[in-house]
Amino acid sequence: MLRFFAFTCGMLLFIGWFGAVAPAQYAKNRKTLIAHRGASAYAPEHSIEAYRLAIEQGADFVEQDLQITKDGVLVCLHDTTLERTTNVAEVFPDRFKTVEIKGESKKVWNVADFTLAEIKQLDAGSWFDKKFAGTKVPTFQEAIDFVKGKAGIYPETKEPEFYGRLGFDMVKLLMAELKKNGLDRPGANPKTPVIIQSFSAPSLRALRRAGCRLPLVFLIDPEAPGDWISPKGMKEARKFADGIGPSKKFLDVTPDLVKWAHAEKLSVTLYTFRSRSVDRRFADVTAEMRHYLLELGADAAFTDNPDKFPK
Ligand code: G3P
Ligand code: CA
Repeated sequence: MLRFFAFTCGMLLFIGWFGAVAPAQYAKNRKTLIAHRGASAYAPEHSIEAYRLAIEQGADFVEQDLQITKDGVLVCLHDTTLERTTNVAEVFPDRFKTVEIKGESKKVWNVADFTLAEIKQLDAGSWFDKKFAGTKVPTFQEAIDFVKGKAGIYPETKEPEFYGRLGFDMVKLLMAELKKNGLDRPGANPKTPVIIQSFSAPSLRALRRAGCRLPLVFLIDPEAPGDWISPKGMKEARKFADGIGPSKKFLDVTPDLVKWAHAEKLSVTLYTFRSRSVDRRFADVTAEMRHYLLELGADAAFTDNPDKFPK
């Protein structure tokens, strides 16, 4: 009787975990399409137009990389600086900082040195194509407003330690914004599931400590893999994450990573698939994604080309 009771409790806990915490792709055993910075092969990354195309092309989730403005607003931008994807150097020519990168000095315009009103003056589209002139950097709130009800959102806490040194708590800002939009709990909005990702294990641990029960995906950088790519690493990741997000390159060397992750009930989401940089082993980006998802068993993929995701 006691054994039956223990078994029933165990099963209920397991089912509860799957329903409440496990990323949808793992629970349903289907492959998940995440539009990387939106459909960023076809429109400027992190523009509303890139998000619109991503949804039109069938993305399950639209990704947002998050930065913080001088006045503490979350905006969607991949880099901590503005000069690659906006005309900040023309609009604010004197507002740069000089930094040393690999022995060379470089001018940078940090997002955190500009207010939202200043960032909204910038053109975030012409760098990609003149036809996108006038595109604005979206706030996270604007991204939510646009995507909500049409797809999931997949925010990434970018450089939370850097922002922490400036006095910002990115985890707190993110959770407050999700709560304001009724998206802070798993299943809160079935049409807009939320998965949070980060290269920063401390940031994901802080989310858990703050009571976040949303699925968390731990990104693993090939340039700083630490001890994560091992069965022991997966056990450690399971303490604070529901999935891992390794570069696809890891699976070429260590295809067992998928098995080790799944043994810990961690989903595997690979980055990044791009039609402009397909490995020469594959005919096209669709074939490349098919290999990693179907042959190697990964659960999900970030791609700049949502329209090329294998059906
Ligand atoms: O977040 C997954 C992938 O986007 C990580 O690389 O540099 O494009 O943010 P990055
Ligand atoms: Ca990202």
